[in-house]
Amino acid sequence: MKIFLDTANVDEIRAAHDLGVLDGVTTNPSHAAKTGRPFREVVTEIAGICSGPLSAEAVSRDTQGMVREAREVCSWAPNIVVKIPLLPEGIKAVSILADEGIRCNVTLCFSPLQALLAAKAGAAYISPFVGRLDDIAHDGMELVEQIVRIYGNYGLDTEIIVASARHPRHVVRAALLGADITTMPYELLMKMFHHPLTDLGEEKFLADWEKAGLSIF
Ligand code: G3P
Repeated sequence: MKIFLDTANVDEIRAAHDLGVLDGVTTNPSHAAKTGRPFREVVTEIAGICSGPLSAEAVSRDTQGMVREAREVCSWAPNIVVKIPLLPEGIKAVSILADEGIRCNVTLCFSPLQALLAAKAGAAYISPFVGRLDDIAHDGMELVEQIVRIYGNYGLDTEIIVASARHPRHVVRAALLGADITTMPYELLMKMFHHPLTDLGEEKFLADWEKAGLSIF
């Protein structure tokens, strides 16, 4: 399963990239607003750090506006994917952009039928928001399970990005279900490392080594 970082914070993206495990980045308008920097400047900087797919969101409410914005942001770097909201205007934009070879990540997906529409329009990626479904007492991962099954039934090659992931259990379940990608905040990526037995084990190994006065060089 590919790991994407869900942020526009360049320091976090650089740190995740340096770990050697980062496959891509997703941003949204809220992330972009938090940086306090011009959007193009941030997006091009991220594109230079991570060569994997980088999602930048269109913010128009009509199809033609989304298409214009998509063409513009895609001209900034070769790895940019346009995020398009799951609305009729958005799905129409995805059909137009897919014909032009522009890759779209259809965002704000909360149902399997929405995911089916995105795939039929030619979306490169679909982003079900699992954490926001959990927030309203639904089961976000059940939605991922349904999309995996539906796409598998019909050989649809739209990649599934588990988005709005909030905790390590989301990541485990995404990988077990065969989702293509999980996108996550930097803190969640770091939580994936953590196991108390790893910390205790390392502490004990090093204490024994030092006590014995050993050295490698
Ligand atoms: O970027 C889309 C999604 O991952 C947002 O997550 O935590 O704001 O629901 P969250």
